[in-house]
Amino acid sequence: MGKFELMGLPYAIDALEPVISKETIGFHHGKHLAGYVNNLNGLLEGSPLAGLPLEEIVLKAEGGMLNNAGQILNHNLYFGQFCAPKADNAPMGKLADAIARDFGSFEAFKEEFQKKGATLFGSGWVWLSADKDGKLVITQEPNAANPIQKGLRPLLTFDVWEHAYYLDYQNRRPDHLAALWQIVDWKVVEGRF
Ligand SMILES: [Fe+2]
Repeated sequence: MGKFELMGLPYAIDALEPVISKETIGFHHGKHLAGYVNNLNGLLEGSPLAGLPLEEIVLKAEGGMLNNAGQILNHNLYFGQFCAPKADNAPMGKLADAIARDFGSFEAFKEEFQKKGATLFGSGWVWLSADKDGKLVITQEPNAANPIQKGLRPLLTFDVWEHAYYLDYQNRRPDHLAALWQIVDWKVVEGRF
């Protein structure tokens, strides 16, 4: 009761290759995310926040509890938004229209998103979110932060912690970010929108 569980991956562990190797997924999901889940469950024992939904814990917690809850929320959104690589992968429908409206074009959006991911100093996340009026924004969030803390609705995220790419890309964070567009499951992102 009230315990969080490690999310199941919605694809095989090697399904994202060669963009993300099964070794990286194994460590990232099976060790890093699992560690955050175990840490949070331990911290919630006897806490007044025990039993609340994850998003509410992120909005109410502080310190280590906030960091671990934030990382679980971030990683659940991250791992849940990918699929096997596709050529010419792009959003459709209302989300594609909103991207063109707010960034000029899909290409311009990708360029700004990658740039904000590449220039985020240290560990963190780059996000596409919608504000309360449905306008799209790209934000850089440090460490374990999530756009819900700014009143935004998160749609898409790239993890720029080194554990997300170091085995496959070493220090080449921009190359990793550029490759991720092949595996974004835009149907999932459109559903969040
Ligand atoms: Fe991560």
